[in-house]
Amino acid sequence: MKLRYFSHSSFLITLDTGVRLLIDPFLDGNPTSPVGALEVEAEYILLTHGHGDHFGDTLSIAKRCDSLCICENELANYIASKGVKAHNMHIGGSHTFDFGKIKLVQALHSSTTPDKECTGSATGIILFIQDKIIYHMGDTGLFMDMKLIGELHPIDYLLVPIGDNFTMGIDDAVMACSFVKPGCAIPIHYNTFDIIQSDPSEFKKKVEKLGLNCQVLEFGQEIIL
Ligand code: NI
Ligand code: MN
Repeated sequence: MKLRYFSHSSFLITLDTGVRLLIDPFLDGNPTSPVGALEVEAEYILLTHGHGDHFGDTLSIAKRCDSLCICENELANYIASKGVKAHNMHIGGSHTFDFGKIKLVQALHSSTTPDKECTGSATGIILFIQDKIIYHMGDTGLFMDMKLIGELHPIDYLLVPIGDNFTMGIDDAVMACSFVKPGCAIPIHYNTFDIIQSDPSEFKKKVEKLGLNCQVLEFGQEIIL
């Protein structure tokens, strides 16, 4: 399968079957994304929470592509109220879809609808797809149960926010890696805006000191998993 990083928290995963999973599609309003919303298609859209820099172009893409949106309960209700297909989940729950299994886990963060109304919880997303386990942490502060999540699930790829201010900064993110012990850590949620400037090479150095692998992706880069 292929994993393409658009910058910020946004990824497109293309499975060997051709099925496409889009995560947190913040594209048109994102100054660092190399693609706009119209250049992306997906059968499924996965959302960590409803903040604008994650929800992004969800409704327009989902309407154009007839995508199924998968996310936390209250946000899924909001999406369904806009006439888009949604699958409601919640923290701790997993569900097996045609393409693989999704599990939502906690994230220490908040969530709003695009209309700025407070809604349910922010989440992390664990994807069990093909033979890989990918943990997208969403927006989160450091919490001890990351350790438990890492013990329960042997994470191959950890997508970990490092931008600070709204999420973990580098040192907390490195600690998160030491808790989860992923096969490979990939830094996210940095350098999109001035307030979240962060040096991914510093993060990489510190993660490698732990004896773990880290890969810094260029904005727009696609890798084979
Ligand atoms: Ni957020
Ligand atoms: Mn964010």
